[in-house]
Amino acid sequence: IDEKRKTLYRINEKAARFFRHFLETSPEAERARAYLKERGLSGETAKTFLLGYAPEGGGILASHLRLSGVELPLAEEAGVVIHREDGSFYDRFRGRLIFPIRDVSGRVVAFGGRILAEGEPKYLNSPETPVYHKSRILYGFYESRTYIRQKDSGFLVEGYFDLLTLWDRGIRNVVASCGTALTREHVKLLRRLSRNWYLVFDADPAGERAAVKALGLFFQENLFPKVVFLPSGEDPDSLVRNFGPEAFFREVERAKEALPFLLEYLLREYGTSPQGKSAVVKELREILSGIPDPVVRYEYFRLSAERLGLPVPLLLSESR
Ligand code: GTP
Ligand code: MN
Ligand code: MN
Ligand code: MN
Ligand code: MN
Repeated sequence: IDEKRKTLYRINEKAARFFRHFLETSPEAERARAYLKERGLSGETAKTFLLGYAPEGGGILASHLRLSGVELPLAEEAGVVIHREDGSFYDRFRGRLIFPIRDVSGRVVAFGGRILAEGEPKYLNSPETPVYHKSRILYGFYESRTYIRQKDSGFLVEGYFDLLTLWDRGIRNVVASCGTALTREHVKLLRRLSRNWYLVFDADPAGERAAVKALGLFFQENLFPKVVFLPSGEDPDSLVRNFGPEAFFREVERAKEALPFLLEYLLREYGTSPQGKSAVVKELREILSGIPDPVVRYEYFRLSAERLGLPVPLLLSESR
């Protein structure tokens, strides 16, 4: 079984090298090179993150792998090819910019692929495999960890380009969740690097929702990240690309503490009517009750009670 995992690492590595080589040398990849330039990434950053391009043709990686001695059913287990009814294999990623995803030891275990034009889905990902457990892997963790330790703080962002653009402009203490729902295991990984985190999610309703969910998980690990608000419609990538790292740090300076963010968000979501407050309290109770330290937990309840104009025992007790 360990042999199997080794094989899957080897196939992912081969595929990454293939995509990379294709991006650098193929005429077909010209539009991918142009796309990267347009999005402002340097060759240096592209190299550090092994960015690549998957050709359009249906089975170019598949035949490359087969010619280099890979059994295609294993390549399918690695997630890079898919089999057809007739037993032949075709490439999972076609005509996409490729982001290899590494595990904590730097081994390539999966890929994300972005479509270059309009189309669905915008991003495609490898499936779960014996070497790729989404719940335990964060994009950029391997590359950024020394910087996060050094700074003793880190930024958690949503997307590949958010991480890459920040990295490119010198902000390197960043990791990205990249579409996978954040898990407690992710937060445990982050906590090993630093206790000081900033959530820098997209300034849209989905981003705010994601921040609330993330806070609940951080709380369970006794971490209390700050929440950074970007100007409406921006994400970290667009902000830094359009206005530079200074603009990013200005927003970081204004980051909100976790609890005031939560209270404001929930009050906005549910309103301040009696029924609204009741809903606020319900959700708040769920989130805060996960805090392991009883003093911190009580203080958060007390501060919330103050903000809501309700007595503390009312927040602590279940409603009927
Ligand atoms: P760009 O348009 O390239 O800047 O993408 P983005 O990163 O800003 O995309 P968005 O804010 O919509 O989503 C954030 C992250 O969620 C992306 O970087 C992806 O990792 C992931 N994601 C977005 N859309 C999809 C999708 O259609 N499928 C999957 N599997 N993941 C997605
Ligand atoms: Mn799994
Ligand atoms: Mn978004
Ligand atoms: Mn974006
Ligand atoms: Mn985005």
